Amino acid sequence: MSQIQPDPTPGDTSWFTHDRFGMFIHWGIYSMGARHEWLKTREEMSDAAYAPYFDYFDPDLYDPDAWAEAASDAGMKYFVITTKHHDGFCLWDSELTDYKATNTPANRDLIRPMLDAFRNRGMRAGLYHSLIDWHHPDFTIDRHHPQRNHPDREALDSGRDMSRYRDYLHGQVRELLTGYGDVDILWCDFSYPPEKGRDAWGSEELYKIIRSLRPNVIMNDRLDLPAGWDIKTPEQFQPRHGVEVNGKPVVWEACQTFSGSWGYHRDEASWKSTEMLVQMLVDTVSMGGNLLLNVGPTGRGELDARTMERLRGIGKWMRYHKKAIYGCTEAPESFGPPPKDCRYTWNPVTKRLYVHLFAWPFGQLYLDGIAPERVAYAHLLNDASEVLRQDIEAWQHDFSGEKRAYNGTALRLPVLKPDTCVPVIEVMLKD
Ligand code: GLC
Repeated sequence: MSQIQPDPTPGDTSWFTHDRFGMFIHWGIYSMGARHEWLKTREEMSDAAYAPYFDYFDPDLYDPDAWAEAASDAGMKYFVITTKHHDGFCLWDSELTDYKATNTPANRDLIRPMLDAFRNRGMRAGLYHSLIDWHHPDFTIDRHHPQRNHPDREALDSGRDMSRYRDYLHGQVRELLTGYGDVDILWCDFSYPPEKGRDAWGSEELYKIIRSLRPNVIMNDRLDLPAGWDIKTPEQFQPRHGVEVNGKPVVWEACQTFSGSWGYHRDEASWKSTEMLVQMLVDTVSMGGNLLLNVGPTGRGELDARTMERLRGIGKWMRYHKKAIYGCTEAPESFGPPPKDCRYTWNPVTKRLYVHLFAWPFGQLYLDGIAPERVAYAHLLNDASEVLRQDIEAWQHDFSGEKRAYNGTALRLPVLKPDTCVPVIEVMLKD
């Protein structure tokens, strides 16, 4: 599985598999409900009940440059923003609807300045667009729809015409791909056939439109098309190994949240620690994947303190360890499994191996699959302090009087764990 390159796809993933780490942003009027971006349907709200979020949406502290700075300082290289989520609300000034930010107290296109801010910091830009729409009058009522249990469901559903919705969907994707510069990623979300799948969305036609406008845009895999996607997108779980389709490796990106919901959630208590998040990033890259880590800004337009604390913590780690992430992937199988509680990442260009220690052992670290004569030098990344190798055969002889062959490399660790959540040893290999 390792070191076999995924087959090329139409989208340009060359920068993507190098950059490895992006920021997902879920922001919309649901942020004001502050209890999950699906609240409209979870609580089976009518349009009228949901209306206050539209009427009072006023993100007066919105500063896209501050978001871009936070992302960039955390080591993220690209971002993906929700242009429209399932509630149908649009953050950009779409000509095809009134249900948009320009008609709220925010009174402006919120997407354009965000794209400018992130691009100004050299980051790539992705647009998430919901295929689902709980506001559009032609979107038929299905099992996910807020009105699914409405006593008048049938009457409410009659006259809805998905072909009109399809025109709207295609038209909006056209707007986004023509009016907002070079879009690097298009993230459509999501299908649930047989109710809503390729026929409902007109996926094949939509796909053609997308490729005709942006031939090399990276497309995710949620249009319910057997081919045509560039990346697979495991959500809220870590795969056991690199993602494969029909036995062949593919380009993939895990998307993960800080606390479970994607939109701002005031009361969730299940926030992951910085250490856990860094480990998730490392784990992902060690399997050849990308991590798209989500933030849910508040209705005021800010990244809250919990978010900033995590982003700063990740940034602190990245400052010292980014070499072990960018340009890195799964280590060759010939290196054998990594030591206990560790992950390997590998830069195939510089031929450096990175050993990430999720737990700090006492004394020795055994790289069983790496012969000592292959190792030119090793050091801790955080301070470039040398890590010595130990002649394990002689050492065993000293304490037990017995000589047992060891074909791997033993490294001698300091007793104290370096002051970083996930220490990394960089191993320079010969040839
Ligand atoms: C899901 C959810 C959604 C979120 C998305 C991110 O499909 O519907 O709320 O936007 O995943 O991957």
